[in-house]
Amino acid sequence: MTPLSAERIRAALHEVDAGPFGADLHFYASTGSTNDVLKELAADDAPEGTLVVADEQTAGRGRMGRRWEAPPGSSLLFSVLFRPDLPASDIYRLVMACGLAAAEACEAATGYRVDVKWPNDLQIGGKKLAGILPESAIMGERAAWVIVGVGLNVSQAFAPGDPLRETATSLRAATGQDVDRAALLAAIMARLNAWNRALAGEALLGAWRARCVTLGQRVRVETPGGVVKGTAEDITPQGALWLRDDAGQRHRIAAGEATLRTP
Ligand code: BTN
Repeated sequence: MTPLSAERIRAALHEVDAGPFGADLHFYASTGSTNDVLKELAADDAPEGTLVVADEQTAGRGRMGRRWEAPPGSSLLFSVLFRPDLPASDIYRLVMACGLAAAEACEAATGYRVDVKWPNDLQIGGKKLAGILPESAIMGERAAWVIVGVGLNVSQAFAPGDPLRETATSLRAATGQDVDRAALLAAIMARLNAWNRALAGEALLGAWRARCVTLGQRVRVETPGGVVKGTAEDITPQGALWLRDDAGQRHRIAAGEATLRTP
């Protein structure tokens, strides 16, 4: 795997139209968590599009208090700063924009279909390719800043015996292809620049729905209030899941972890 560096990322960004995304780039061979580094930059008035990238994280964080582990050199680990002109209730649109940008760039690089899974994952062939961790500071009705952190598996083998083999994959494991991380990151930033200009419109939601593997499926969702089982019917513009349980009752689930149920 070609080493990642600030120079290689800048050169790749130079080849695409990424607008503000990555114009202010902070690269670390190793750091605690790119989300945590970016939080400090956000508090110091860093501009929209500020990008923090690490080859290795020593305290990478996942959703629901979990850790995010990735061997050095294996992944794209990055966080992007938004200063969105959106009501605080709509910040899930930034998760959609980042998820779609990453899915489209991976698909363009490999030719393989990449799905989104509600709420925050990318998948290939039903296995997790990437996870997204959004964090925000809300001031009244608006978000002062939103950080979206992405961990994307590029070259992990997930060899036989690895407990993650059944549920996780990487671009190399799923497609057999070696993808250049600097070029992939630049392609993600270019797609993000495009989606960021369309945050308020219907197209974003439509593209996300079309790529979502959860909708129409029977799912089990772990929510802070307990487990709900049923059929995933739709996603709201704020990113909540509409689920119809087996008794026919509709539930609006704002946050949770969905598992597809085989019939
Ligand atoms: C998940 O649980 O699926 C979300 C994982 C998000 C991991 C990324 S890696 C870059 C950024 N920095 C972190 O500490 N976490 C996110």
